[in-house]
Amino acid sequence: MVCLGNICRSPMAEGILRSKAKSKGIAIQVDSCGTASYHVGERPDPRSIAKMKEHGIDISRLFGRQFSKDDFKDFDHILVMDKNNFQNVSRLARGQHDLNKVDFILNYVKPDSDHDVPDPYYGEEDGFEKVYQMLNEASDLFIRKHFNV
Ligand code: 4NP
Repeated sequence: MVCLGNICRSPMAEGILRSKAKSKGIAIQVDSCGTASYHVGERPDPRSIAKMKEHGIDISRLFGRQFSKDDFKDFDHILVMDKNNFQNVSRLARGQHDLNKVDFILNYVKPDSDHDVPDPYYGEEDGFEKVYQMLNEASDLFIRKHFNV
């Protein structure tokens, strides 16, 4: 799961997908990171932690890291939140095999639409609930598509 800062959207996506996989008995490795380095080593934004807690998921112990080329080796799917993330990640791809791993997370909801998960960082509090709902639906569809449950 990739966003810009790795403190709002992608840690929420990580927590949601990990929680769903666990409850369905699916063994997958889920992680998140940011394309920028501003928040490396920091905990998620308190508003993201609070929103996830409301939905029963604890992301308070995650910490930020920056996307690296090695992520193409380590992961089968690299799901980005928006077009900037897509460009920044794609720039580091070493070829078509890497590029094939990159997709917009909302394309699980609406295939090939390349829609953004809006960045809630500078916005109103309800932005975090909207992000949660989008990521929740996309994560369900990710699991259905790849694990057929
Ligand atoms: P995120 O949100 O990419 O969803 O983690 C942001 C967090 C921090 C900043 C921008 C977006 N920032 O500019 O510090």
